[in-house]
Amino acid sequence: MNNKIKKILNKKNKSKIVCLTAYSKNIAKILDKHCDIILVGDSMANVLYGLKNTHKISLQNIIDHSLSVKKGVKKSLLIVDMPKGSYQNVKLARKNAKLIIKKTGCDGVKLESNRNNYKIIKELVKAKIPVMGHIGYTPQFKINFKIEGDTIKKANKLYKEAFLIQQAGAFSIVLECLAPQASKLITKDLKIPTIGIGSSSYCDGQILVTDDMLGISGFYPKFVKKYANLNNVIEKAVKKYSKDIKLNKFPGKKNFLNGRKFQ
Ligand code: KIV
Repeated sequence: MNNKIKKILNKKNKSKIVCLTAYSKNIAKILDKHCDIILVGDSMANVLYGLKNTHKISLQNIIDHSLSVKKGVKKSLLIVDMPKGSYQNVKLARKNAKLIIKKTGCDGVKLESNRNNYKIIKELVKAKIPVMGHIGYTPQFKINFKIEGDTIKKANKLYKEAFLIQQAGAFSIVLECLAPQASKLITKDLKIPTIGIGSSSYCDGQILVTDDMLGISGFYPKFVKKYANLNNVIEKAVKKYSKDIKLNKFPGKKNFLNGRKFQ
């Protein structure tokens, strides 16, 4: 087993696992200093490409962004989302997961659960491909963005689903938008670490979409904490740039290229 994955497994019940998403090198380089896991999420569909859901992002899009992210990652575990349609059956899943790993050099893949793809996870793990599961609100398969596991019956279903994913060999599992009691119980009983998003602090780790927590995506549900307001910062900078050009303050003399000097 990859040492980075061993490190993540060892954190269970000891220290919290810090995860964020990245789609490009410059952001990944910053995250790498502070994160245990960096995910190239298919959330890039909404966040970067302005699509209404994640269904249309292609395998090639995911590979291209992962290649960029990989250039900024030294120490974190790099996980890449398998896009919708890329793991419909065992053969396709194996082919595409291998392609993602070969082309991007990532450490493993994440795939969303449709309550029926445990065999796919099992076969990927058999082929030595580390897999992260994903249950609860799974945007590739669900339309309504809502709390999951908020009744005993629904929580029990998620509990079973999480166990089957663990049994299939996943090394960790994302819990998205689970009611706190459901994530608490699943986290307590699973051997593998749970990574929560909108699923309370009972999880072994947390993930957010970086653009949300930096205040640049415009998507701020209750579970997102905005750690910065980059929209404002960027807007201020662009406004100043525009003003400087109009007042002929930029480029200044110090920005002129004289002689052979570029720096
Ligand atoms: O696509 C993504 O960014 C994700 C995280 C929200 C877990 O799946």
